Amino acid sequence: MWPKGNYCVLLFLLRSVLSEPGTTNQVVLLDTTTVLGELDWKTYPVNGWDAITEMDEQNRPIHTFQVCHVMEPNQNNWLRSGWIRRQAAQRLRFTLRDCNSIPWVSGTCKETFNLFYLQSEEPLPSTTRFRPTDYAKVDTIAADESFTQTDLGDRVLRLNTEVREVGPITRKGFYLAFQDVGACIALVSVKKSGRVSRHSASHGLVVSSGGERACVENAEERDTPKLYCGADGDWLVPLGRCVCSIGHEEIDGHCQACKPGFFKAFAGNTKCSKCPPHSSSHDQAATVCHCDKSFYRALKDPSTMACTSPALVGVVRKDWATENSIALSWEQVEQPPADIVDYEVKYYEREQEQLSYSSTRTRTPSVVVTGLRPSTVYVFHVRTRTTAGFTAYSPNFEFSTAAEDPDVADQGQVLVVVTASVGGFSLLVILTLFLLITGRCQGYIKARMKSEEKRRTRFHSGHVPFSGIKTYVDPDTYEDPTQAVEEFAKEIDPSYICIERVIGAGEFGEVCSGRLRLPGRMDVPVAIKTLKGGYSEQQRRDFLREASIMGQFSCTNIIRLEGVVTNSRPVMIVVEYMENGALDSFLRTRDGQFTVLQLVGMLRGIAVGMTYLSDMGYVHRDLAARNILIDKSLVCKVSDFGMSRVLEDDSEAAYTATGGKIPIRWTAPEAIAYGKFSSASDVWSYGIVMWEVMSYGERPYWEMSNQDVILSIEEGYRLPAPMGCPVTLHQLMLHCWQKEAGQRPNFTDVLSFLDKLIISPGSLLTLANDAQSLTDSSEDLPDYPLFISIGDWLDSIKMSQYKNNFLAAGYTTLDSISTMSVDDIRRIGICLIGHQRRIISSIQSLRLQLHHIQQNGFQV
Ligand code: ADE
Repeated sequence: MWPKGNYCVLLFLLRSVLSEPGTTNQVVLLDTTTVLGELDWKTYPVNGWDAITEMDEQNRPIHTFQVCHVMEPNQNNWLRSGWIRRQAAQRLRFTLRDCNSIPWVSGTCKETFNLFYLQSEEPLPSTTRFRPTDYAKVDTIAADESFTQTDLGDRVLRLNTEVREVGPITRKGFYLAFQDVGACIALVSVKKSGRVSRHSASHGLVVSSGGERACVENAEERDTPKLYCGADGDWLVPLGRCVCSIGHEEIDGHCQACKPGFFKAFAGNTKCSKCPPHSSSHDQAATVCHCDKSFYRALKDPSTMACTSPALVGVVRKDWATENSIALSWEQVEQPPADIVDYEVKYYEREQEQLSYSSTRTRTPSVVVTGLRPSTVYVFHVRTRTTAGFTAYSPNFEFSTAAEDPDVADQGQVLVVVTASVGGFSLLVILTLFLLITGRCQGYIKARMKSEEKRRTRFHSGHVPFSGIKTYVDPDTYEDPTQAVEEFAKEIDPSYICIERVIGAGEFGEVCSGRLRLPGRMDVPVAIKTLKGGYSEQQRRDFLREASIMGQFSCTNIIRLEGVVTNSRPVMIVVEYMENGALDSFLRTRDGQFTVLQLVGMLRGIAVGMTYLSDMGYVHRDLAARNILIDKSLVCKVSDFGMSRVLEDDSEAAYTATGGKIPIRWTAPEAIAYGKFSSASDVWSYGIVMWEVMSYGERPYWEMSNQDVILSIEEGYRLPAPMGCPVTLHQLMLHCWQKEAGQRPNFTDVLSFLDKLIISPGSLLTLANDAQSLTDSSEDLPDYPLFISIGDWLDSIKMSQYKNNFLAAGYTTLDSISTMSVDDIRRIGICLIGHQRRIISSIQSLRLQLHHIQQNGFQV
């Protein structure tokens, strides 16, 4: 027990002032003197240290801890701090009483105490038993100056200051423990120094000896500066940091060899990675995993890439060629390591030396690549995409197109001709045909272009730019908007246009149907938008703006511009004719007449168009069923581009408080509130279009006022599933209506989700209205896995920074991550507890979804 009398002036004041990393000014993270109520500090045994509240010099209550069992032998009293976030050195200020100043205690009194620490990723549960053996010793601490009787009389405390580096700390935080073995100690404060290097996490790989600092074994120095804490608690000399060498990872401050089955190819602070599929490492400290027998990795492939067995014979044949196209086929002899998803064909003009290339995908081992230049040699590579990833590219194959025949026009598109094999794959064939009908735009085309200039030049040359993800060029960026029209729209001689009847009225004039009769070409049914007489120059520009936008697009699900008439009156915009007109009114007149699959087909078409637009960097801003046109085959196409800026023409658009005109019911909250239009806000609108389609053209939010719609959305209200709507589709709508734009799926996700539904129509059988019990029992049933790649999944949970950790560790599919544990997450180098939690909870929800999907026949 605490001795009475003059000992009671031995005040134990334990005060912790911790500071934020990277700041010059001290920020108090925890000040034990000012904490109201109980401190989260523990004593073992409970009667060893006493927590007492004292008054300081300014009469403020301060928390103190006291111990002075100098009369009793064999003292072992522990005081453990609360959990302290990882920082660098701890500065201890304390005073010790000189044993000589205390009578009768010569055999038991001590003049030192021991400082220990214990690392942990997070605060330990309060039920955790205190075990001294869990704690690592920092040092035994002794006083330079004692606290004497003389001092007592004056109440002058001569404080000792000691600095100790606690660590290496590799976890997120730690506890300090003070072991008293029978002394009278006055710890005045435990203090953190002002600035901490942002690289302090790696200081643990440093060893000190005689003032020299070096990296621990199997670590090497990096030159990123780190500040080092001097004895007075100030930050001194910049030092390099140490990182574990190749084949080694950091564990508890040491660089330990990667275990067999793991590897690390680069020095750094990352963890050893699991060997990629079909490769292994048998020894410790592997820097690469070697491919298993019969599996290979291309020389240029990174070591993180899975090994695959070659899926091609090595021969790609040219079946035939015209001046604009080449038909190729190849064989697949060996059974690939995993199921084949599709083939990727990459090609470029030999003379271009891969400055730009195109690629296209096909599900069968044949392709017809069109849109090529006559008499030109092209280089082709083919690789197979399996469920385990890509195989290596085949060697180069060079084939030439035929010489030019001036009579035949180039259609200028890449068309993937699928020669689906018959047999037991009827569903695949049906799907393939379906996909061909509702069409994805231009196959998959990707390219690096040397310059924007080059792109323009090619465009001018009358070809579809030979590859390249084209980006949308805003006509408003042209000094003279007529230039944009000239660049992106063909001028049509009005004598080729035959107007038949008026089909509607736009803001600028009538809309007619008719025929386009270009010489040497078949008649094309067209819709003709006219600009009525008496227009101003600005109105003419606004009118033609739509043409210069539309003219940049080439996609089956975007209304095609045939051309413009600007050199004579009336000024006209000529587009392809869509027999069934606007989607909303079309559906209203056909209430209940389509199968769910037909409706999903319409939605898929819109998603294809929107994916194309968002890939081009174009934000529509007015996506709504009224702005989708539908043809006689039920192909839906996105239209109405002119109004993306002004929205004057849209009767649904209302003025907002900031003066903008916005179609409130279709628009994402961030776009309404502060004009933040993006592809993500288009996704919100797409969700509303889904709802319109599934409800056969019902008005979103019925007769609620715009103001009520805004308030309801803000309060979390979302449109319920339309009658007869599959639960999976309503889930997708809800996903599109996430308040946070970043949490919504992107259009590629939407499209891939719809494709999965189409492949597995059983997933459309559970209707939302029938599924009340399902939604009730799984109130927090998570969103469906729309994210087809690990990258997309990480983006969706805002953990994009860990893409490389997953990929480097060989996790490439959602399936593969669904079994990951917290330990796995840690092992791939995700150290922050909050991030681990977020990832794990997303994986858990993913598991639930997978389970749910399995129950409902949805294929992942
Ligand atoms: N109304 C407006 N544009 C149209 C089009 N392209 N086809 C049919 N009707 C339309």
